[in-house]
Order: sequence, then structure tokens, then C-alpha cells
Amino acid sequence: YLPSLRLMVCITALGTSLAANAGTEKTIDVSLPLGPDSQQGIGVLKFGEELERLSEGRLTIEPHYDNALGAEREVVEGMGFGTIDAGISSTGPMGGFVDEFMLFDLPYVFNDHAHAYAFLDSEYGEQLAQLAEDQMNVKILAWMENGFRHETNSVRPIHEPADLKGINHRTQESRVQVDTWEALGANATPMAWTEVYTALQQGVMDSQENPLATIYDVNFFEVQNYLNLTKHVYSPAPLMMSLDLFNSFSEEDQAIILEAAQLALPVQREASQELENRYLTQLEEKGMTVTEPDLPAFKAAVQPVIDEWSETVGKDLVDAAVNFND
Ligand code: MLT
Repeated sequence: YLPSLRLMVCITALGTSLAANAGTEKTIDVSLPLGPDSQQGIGVLKFGEELERLSEGRLTIEPHYDNALGAEREVVEGMGFGTIDAGISSTGPMGGFVDEFMLFDLPYVFNDHAHAYAFLDSEYGEQLAQLAEDQMNVKILAWMENGFRHETNSVRPIHEPADLKGINHRTQESRVQVDTWEALGANATPMAWTEVYTALQQGVMDSQENPLATIYDVNFFEVQNYLNLTKHVYSPAPLMMSLDLFNSFSEEDQAIILEAAQLALPVQREASQELENRYLTQLEEKGMTVTEPDLPAFKAAVQPVIDEWSETVGKDLVDAAVNFND
């Protein structure tokens, strides 16, 4: 019996080592609020491409566009529970889970892209990612972005805050955003992203705010006449994974997932800025009237909101973000 037993042990060992080399095969479902040509779609598709290349085809993604798996808050919750694999979400709904994420709802914290990237790529970005792990059970793979947000409406051009009086404005599901738009004089109502187009189309809402690339991607120019360049908030759109799913991968595959996300990050940010520049002209061509509002007047009107919410967000974090330079 001995020779054949040894042979069997050898064959079993060979089989086990081949299986280990082959590693896990997995298609990761990725939820995103926008479409394939958007700043989010470009980032997710690049992530998928790098993931497939680095894992030699074992790890792939299946994107689910236009929040087909659920609205952003549900998706973030789903990742935490482990029922949704991965996704992009604006940070807007995340402040409901982690106070510090409301930093990104506070108006006029970041001046430009370089300022936001330097902050997010510093130890502060790591600290916020750790809070997402500890309090949401979600792993942030890369600080992708939506971009700087601007107000649009169907009523009138906005030169100064007083022009917002009486306008029904949709905010993300964020208490800071509601307070901000109330301070500016609008009637603010929080609403999930998945309902916004219909609300604008039916006139339930007059106004919303989003980056130019988003406004173009979802055809808001069909239901909004005025684009007002308020640039009031820099909006990250982190690429995230369920922490339980991430931890279920081998260390080698975890490193591959993180590397794929980091390789996709500069591509996503560059595409986002490129789309932002391109779509300003295209939105005008689609008939939107573009206005440059009096930004100092906007900043002065929202200062009480910043002062009030800085306590909850963390004064040190807010100061660090406002004053951050490399
Ligand atoms: C929103 O306004 O809810 C978001 O900006 C949607 C998105 O993340 O694209």
C-alpha cells in the first residue's frame, strides 16, 4: 500500500497547491449613482480593468449604474451589513453614520482640487477611512471624487443669496446641507438622489446642486434653466468595499484590490476635472444660463452654519482642512 498512499498524498498536495496558486475567483458587484461615461463610471471601469489585470483574470467587477442596487444611503448600509459588495457614494449621506464625514458638507472648506487632494491624501484621509471601517464596517479603497458642486434651478439666475428666497431646493440627506440652504434663504428638503430628476421634472423641487459632470450625465439641463456657479462644496465620491468582503480575501488579493484602486484614482480625478471643464460650455449650449454669483456674500451668509456644525464635526479637523497645505 505504501507507494500508492505516498502517491495519493503527493497528488493531493499538488492539487492543494495548484488551488492556492489559482486563488479565489470573484466577480465584485459595484454600485454607482451615475452612468458609464461619468466621472464615477470612468473610475470604476479603470478599477475593474486594473483588478482583472493584476489578478490575471480571477477578480472582475460588474458595475450597476444609476443606483440600480439602491439609493446611496442604502448602498453604504448594505456594504456595512455585507449584502452589497462595493460601490461609490457621495459623502453626503455618510455624515448620518460618522459625524466627521459632515466635514464635506460644510461650505467653502476647500478652495480648489489641489487643496482637496492634498488633504485627502494626507493622514487625515487615512483617519477618515479608519472611521468608516470602525463605524460603518466599510473599507475606503480610494478617495475618488464627484467634484465641486454648483446650484441649478428652474426659476431665476442667482447673483446673491437673496435670490434664493422662496425657491424649493433639494439637498442630499444631510442636516448640514439643510441648514446651509436655509441660511441662504431657500426652502430646503433632503431627498435621495434616485428621486431628484422626477422631483425637478414635476416641479416638486425647483433647485438642486451637483458638479457639472453630474448635471450633464443625468440631463438636468432638460429640467433646469439656470446654472449658478456657487462652487460651495468639494464632494468626494469614495470607492468603497464591504469590510467583511475585503477581509474575506487573502492578503495577496487585498493588496491587489488596493493597488487597482490606487491606480484608478489619478485617472478618475483627471477625468473628473476634464469633464468639468468640457461640460461648462456644453451645458450653455444645451440652453442653460450661466451666472457667476457674488461668492463673498455666499460665504458670509453660511458662516454661522460652519461655526455651529464645527463643534459636531470636530473643530481641529475643520481647521486642519481649511488651512491644509502640503
Ligand atoms: C447627490 O446629489 O445625491 C449625489 O451627488 C449623487 C452622486 O453621488 O452622483
